[in-house]
Amino acid sequence: MKISSAEFVISNSDVAKCPKEKLPEYAFIGRSNVGKSSLINMLTNRKNLAKTSGRPGKTQLINHFIINKKWFLVDLPGYGYARVSKSAKKVFQKFITSYFSKRTQLVNAFVLVDSRHEPQKIDVEFMLWLGENQIPFSIIFTKADKLSKNKLEVQIAEYKKKILEYWEEMPIYFITSSSSGQGKEELLAYIDNINKQ
Ligand code: GTP
Ligand code: MG
Repeated sequence: MKISSAEFVISNSDVAKCPKEKLPEYAFIGRSNVGKSSLINMLTNRKNLAKTSGRPGKTQLINHFIINKKWFLVDLPGYGYARVSKSAKKVFQKFITSYFSKRTQLVNAFVLVDSRHEPQKIDVEFMLWLGENQIPFSIIFTKADKLSKNKLEVQIAEYKKKILEYWEEMPIYFITSSSSGQGKEELLAYIDNINKQ
């Protein structure tokens, strides 16, 4: 799919104030610093559409971007960031869960995990929560450029093993790098296919 336009629409912490249009929507979620905002920029060929930072905790709100005037990409705050206060964490959690439970136009959640890390409890728990709430999701292994091909295969095999402790099969997954552009065509084709259904 060719991206001919990508525009920022609105940021907020209240799901009730998200755009009203019933367009297909895709959300990027995962731990802080995993590369959600960078991936949105990579997919849309825009350097600063979504704000990124080397320091975790950059994205703090629900950010809607409209793509080709037909569908939304949503950048969300990361979960599991240790340095924010407990009360701030609770507020985050509340609006993230409220976003996922109430946003009926959400077609698919992409759960991003850093391909260098072992499966993390918080990610698996979040995926279980999505499953329990019947929210379709896929997994994205990010920062693939930081690993050799062999190491990447080992990491993904490990991850599959963990996932199969909970699910009968591995969900659809993608391997991406926002620095090299790896995974871009596959991800866009996947979204395009769903949009056409
Ligand atoms: P929060 O908004 O804080 O939750 O983080 P985020 O998940 O949006 O991460 P962000 O896109 O801001 O990226 C975090 C850091 O990782 C930045 O320094 C990025 O440059 C870096 N980064 C993101 N994706 C990649 C990637 O594919 N490869 C490499 N090498 N670095 C990446
Ligand atoms: Mg971000």
